Formats: sequence, structure tokens, C-alpha cells
Amino acid sequence: MVKSIGNEKISCAVFISGRGTNLKSIFKYSKNKYSKINLKLVISNRRDALGVIFARDNKIDCKIINYKNTKKAEKQILNYLKRKKIKFIFLAGFMKILSKNFIKKFKNKIVNIHPSLLPNYKGLNTHMRVIANKEKFSGCTVHFVNGKIDSGKIIIQKKVKILKLDTAKSLSKKILKEENKLYPKAIKKVFS
Ligand code: GRF
Repeated sequence: MVKSIGNEKISCAVFISGRGTNLKSIFKYSKNKYSKINLKLVISNRRDALGVIFARDNKIDCKIINYKNTKKAEKQILNYLKRKKIKFIFLAGFMKILSKNFIKKFKNKIVNIHPSLLPNYKGLNTHMRVIANKEKFSGCTVHFVNGKIDSGKIIIQKKVKILKLDTAKSLSKKILKEENKLYPKAIKKVFS
């Protein structure tokens, strides 16, 4: 879907707000000889995010953004992206909504992971809602980001069976494991 020029890797950024397990799996994948991406920047709106520690431990440039004022925050992010010549963005548990204007600047160059089988269960608290509705399956989706929440073109999905004894917590654990495997697969697909 996206072509890299020659053997040059595409400079990417990952946006996070928390734990950073997907950041970790993207980073691990980026180190693969055959991967087309170079993870050059991590953006976090939270200083205390665990993913920030991971980025620093692994010497990935990491910027903390103060989101008190969204317009200013996005302007600052765009500056960092420009400085680092970032061409592609992966959202991995980033809890802020990017403005339409921002998304336009990276049209078809922003990808997100969501812990449900989209288009079902967009938004927050997916596992809780899935369990409350007694669904038989859930899963995770990697998709392009457009102007509407969790609505862009789907790249890849993984279905997960829900067992009778599953709770929102156990389901979230099961799905997260699949998410961590799915993100690299999606990236491979995007840059094939
Ligand atoms: C994941 O469940 C992802 O689907 C959602 O936020 C969570 C982030 O987890 N958007 P992590 O920070 O990558 O561990």
C-alpha cells in the first residue's frame, strides 16, 4: 500500500499514553532486518506513561506533550515530526483525539489499533461493553485513521473467542496479546 524508496527505511513515530506494549512490539519489529520502518520518535501526552520508560531505555527520542491546549500541543507535535522527518504515525494507546486538520496533514499516513472487531464497539470501554452484551467473539483491529473515531479503512483484524468465564479484565489480557502480534503484521501489510 505504501512504497519505500529503494532500501531506505521509512521514518516513523509512535504516539502513546500508557503502558506501551504495542510500542514495544512495533519497536521490536522495526529492528527486523527486513522491516521497512525506522522508529525515530515517540510522542506521549503523559510523562508517567510506562512506554516513556521503554522509549528512554531503548534510546528512542521521546517527547512529552502538554495537552492543556490541543492546538498548541498539535503544533508542537508537528514541529517534532518535521524535525525528525517523520513520514508515518502509529497510534498505540494514544488517548487524545487528533484534529481533522492534523489528520489531513498526514492523510493515509496514520494507523491506529483498537481492541474490538470494528466497526463494532468503537470508542472506550470496549471489553466491558462486549462482556455486558454477552458476545461470543471480540478481537482487535488495525485501521487507518480518518476524521471519524475508529472509522478508517481496516487493514487487518484478529478474532478472539470469549469464554463463559471471561471478564472484561481477562478478555482485555487475551486481546492485548493478539494486538501485540497484529500490529507488526499490519505494518508489513501497509508497506508491502
Ligand atoms: C490497547 O488495548 C489498544 O488497543 C488501545 O489502547 C491499548 C494500549 O495498550 N487503543 P498499550 O499501551 O500498547 O499496552
